[in-house]
Amino acid sequence: MKKSLLALLLQESTYISGAELGRRLGVSRAAVWKMVEQLRQAGHIIDAASNRGYLLVQEADILGLAEAKRALQACSDSAWALNIHYQAVTDSTNLMAKRAAEKGAPDKSIFLAHDQQKGRGRLGRSWLSQPGQGLAFSLLLRPKTSPENLAPVTLFAGLMAARALECLLAGLQKEGSPEVAIKWPNDIIAVPGGQKLGGILTETLLEENRVAALIIGIGINLGQTSFPPELEKATSVLAQWSTKLRRLDVLAAIMKNFAQAEKDMFQPGAWLPDYRRHCYTLGRQVLLHEGEKEPEVCQALDVDAAGQLLVLDAAGRKKTVRAGEVSVRGLTGYA
Ligand code: BTN
Repeated sequence: MKKSLLALLLQESTYISGAELGRRLGVSRAAVWKMVEQLRQAGHIIDAASNRGYLLVQEADILGLAEAKRALQACSDSAWALNIHYQAVTDSTNLMAKRAAEKGAPDKSIFLAHDQQKGRGRLGRSWLSQPGQGLAFSLLLRPKTSPENLAPVTLFAGLMAARALECLLAGLQKEGSPEVAIKWPNDIIAVPGGQKLGGILTETLLEENRVAALIIGIGINLGQTSFPPELEKATSVLAQWSTKLRRLDVLAAIMKNFAQAEKDMFQPGAWLPDYRRHCYTLGRQVLLHEGEKEPEVCQALDVDAAGQLLVLDAAGRKKTVRAGEVSVRGLTGYA
């Protein structure tokens, strides 16, 4: 029935009353209102105006399993299309991946959801995904490497996401090429505003100091037009460039980049120069926030092959900073 209501709304170019929709569907106005709410929950944007009725402003970008599978088969190393774990609604795709890893899910498994309700961010923060407006997915790898080699992976994933967004946007924009950058270590940001478009959360499962599973979670804001006040640094592709990218296309573009470059994931020499080119933090004055300590003003100099940020402190001393230990901010704002 919800599908029939959506079909009716899709064929209207102006508002249509709840009474008329109810008449065509053979249900009450209250039932129409209830279904409208359900469609909104699924990510459709439906305006309601008194005395006029309902207007479908934007159809939801529904991320389904079958089309995700087709897209991954077409765009990437086909191994990634073999183990897709899909849930329409989930708590967190990283948690889906963790649970599956513990039950033995193989290398190159991918975890996708249409609606992620308890997304997790770095440093214990949460990650907000509005249904249908953002892409959230996680990759599970079983690399044969030791835990010390994992740090740069997060930077690698950020670079894959930034490259994919730049490439998709370059094909759509009429003037100039949109620039997508990375705030060290792995926040995806829009240039020139320096607001946050997305982020990466890498987690590991260790067994006797051996890497049992590596989980790379990627979240990108695509269609959100408003964010809660505590996320004033956040933005979306739509808010920045007035372009709505489909989640499936973004997933496919990231995975294409990932599949092309993943053989070098643990060889940062192959991609670090491009990471540095995309790194918004380098060459800027930043504030290092380390636990309870007073924030420290430093100059960001470089990123090394271990994924560490090399900075010059106020006393002129060089030091290296590891992701996960500090948060880095610009002097006047987030980036
Ligand atoms: C950050 O910037 O703090 C990292 C955000 C990572 C969010 C993604 S969304 C997909 C995956 N699942 C999660 O719960 N988190 C990551």
